[in-house]
Amino acid sequence: MKRIAVAGVLLAATGVCLAQTPPEWAYPVNPPGFKPKADDGRPRHVPSSNATYTLTQLRDRFISPLWHPAEHPAQPEVVARGRKPDVFACGFCHRADGPGGPENANLMGLPAKYIVQQMADYKSGARKTAVPGRNVDLMISLAKAATDAEIQAAAAYFASVRPRANIRIVESEIIPRTYVTGWHLALMDKGEQEAIGQRIVEVPEVLEQFESRDTHARFIAYVPPGSVKKGEALAATGGGKTVACAGCHGRALGGAGDIPALAGRSPTYLFRQLYEFKHGGRTGVQSQQMKPTVENLALEDMIALAAYAASLAPAVREE
Ligand code: HEC
Ligand code: HEC
Repeated sequence: MKRIAVAGVLLAATGVCLAQTPPEWAYPVNPPGFKPKADDGRPRHVPSSNATYTLTQLRDRFISPLWHPAEHPAQPEVVARGRKPDVFACGFCHRADGPGGPENANLMGLPAKYIVQQMADYKSGARKTAVPGRNVDLMISLAKAATDAEIQAAAAYFASVRPRANIRIVESEIIPRTYVTGWHLALMDKGEQEAIGQRIVEVPEVLEQFESRDTHARFIAYVPPGSVKKGEALAATGGGKTVACAGCHGRALGGAGDIPALAGRSPTYLFRQLYEFKHGGRTGVQSQQMKPTVENLALEDMIALAAYAASLAPAVREE
């Protein structure tokens, strides 16, 4: 025991980390006893919509709030309402037309075949999470309960949405302090600051708008200075550490064939996926193609690649 403890101290002192633990900023866990604010009965509004919802409705897992119905096709049943008791409405978490947030995934314009494959991987256990006990557990359980017809309908719908930009990347050494709420980070709003270190700190611009599940919600992602340029270089050439991304993910990383786009998607989400590919959380048939890409990536490289991809405007998919 003693020897192990000493070894641990030595490793910590030299900055070497053997058994890497998933970074908390990428997998935020709600504090113990976390309780969302009580519903004060106030009807919630969002800009440029006449709709209203109460907080209780906004927290109902079988409601996908419909704030801007003219902006996207009608949601299929499984996206709008899901099916009780265990297929929660896709739009509840991913929002009505799929922009999602840092705590889940942006589904806008992903290839239908890719979406279907991911659902199959969640179902079979080939796609898991490095930090169980978070919201991903619900994604896994509902994938197991969803029927093929429901999955096909949801996949066709999200694939038909045109991706749009909703993230601003800010490189900064010093950033506002944050706290965890609803499995993501939010600004403390008290003017307190801290050093970014090696993290991506992604927050909704307007917390209440995001919590109201407005599809127009926007995000700021703070990243370490130099990340975007470093990521661009790694993505372009592999830098001797990885494989150039565009060959598979398309020009400007807008996606190609059945391979998902990376451009303009949440950097926290993208980071988690690189981490999962590397640490065995994604082992589906298609995931094998990502193995050589992640094998030699350090956390800082993953941060840089995620920051770079997220900084790009959503681009047209190559067929
Ligand atoms: C309870 C919230 C929740 C609901 C409801 C939900 N999801 Fe998810 N979804 C998640 C989370 C969390 C992730 C994974 C994020 C991660 O891996 O970091 C995810 C990931 C995904 C992915 C992977 C995206 C990618 O780029 O690989 C797909 C596809 C997906 N969801 C489809 C659906 C569909 C279809 C439905 C409805 C049948 C649905 N989700 C309902 C929370 C949810
Ligand atoms: C040989 C082809 C190939 C190369 C090269 C490649 N990828 Fe991928 N990538 C894929 C495939 C295929 C998937 C889907 C995997 C799956 O279904 O599990 C994927 C998925 C991903 C995902 C998860 C997306 C999501 O929606 O969940 C990320 C992030 C990613 N790649 C990043 C990169 C980066 C960054 C690079 C370059 C450094 C890169 N990839 C290079 C083939 C590739």
